[in-house]
Amino acid sequence: MNIDDFIRESIRRNEEEAREFAMKKKQERIAAILEKSGLGKRFQKRTFEGFKQTDKNRGAYLKALDFCNAFPDNWRGLLITGPVGTGKTHLAAAIANKLIKELYTVMFGNITDIITLVKSTYSKDSEVSEMQVIQTLTQDVDLLVIDDLGKEYSSKNTNTVLYQIINRLYEDEKPIIITTNYNSEQLKSKFGERGEAIVSRITEMTVPIIMTGEDWRLK
Ligand SMILES: Nc1ncnc2c1ncn2[C@@H]1O[C@H](COP(=O)(O)OP(=O)(O)OP(=O)(O)O)[C@@H](O)[C@H]1O
Ligand SMILES: [Mg+2]
Repeated sequence: MNIDDFIRESIRRNEEEAREFAMKKKQERIAAILEKSGLGKRFQKRTFEGFKQTDKNRGAYLKALDFCNAFPDNWRGLLITGPVGTGKTHLAAAIANKLIKELYTVMFGNITDIITLVKSTYSKDSEVSEMQVIQTLTQDVDLLVIDDLGKEYSSKNTNTVLYQIINRLYEDEKPIIITTNYNSEQLKSKFGERGEAIVSRITEMTVPIIMTGEDWRLK
């Protein structure tokens, strides 16, 4: 091997090693945080196969499938709204499960759990920082699903955390999936002085899916 080939080969190996190292670090971070949070156990059974189609929800079902088929090239996510029991969480979970099967990393969390996870880093015993958790939620995972937005206990700090998460995704043009019982005016009023900024970003970042029909829990 001549000296030029030798140098080229060394550079290639170093680059490969660096890439592998970065991948490993990223996977470790995701695993550590998923393990701590306990997020993600609740939704595993809810799939597209288990989602019965009706005249009222077929449009929503197809939009959700479209989202999966376009992933990861779509920067617009989904804002799934509608009354209690109409299948919002089920549909969001079905997307998460389908993408996980395709080997994407998805963080599916109830908003209260996500906020609790971020706040757990404020303890002085925490091994990870708030910034690291937000980075994992927004950058390390391929998709973040926030279930039940607006149900969290609202405080200045909570609103700031939420703003940081949304804004990071917005700047990176990464999709988000949100389910909520509330319309945009109601959401705005929940997030205090961050309300306008949060809701305006979410509106631009998502395609709306409006769920209607009866409460499946009563069937
Ligand atoms: N199309 C469907 N086919 C079969 N089961 C469904 C369907 N839609 C909803 N369900 C079931 O009904 C129950 C309620 O649905 P889900 O939790 O998705 O409602 P939701 O809209 O998120 O309600 P909430 O606003 O209270 O969070 C779940 O057990 C879910 O699996
Ligand atoms: Mg729900």
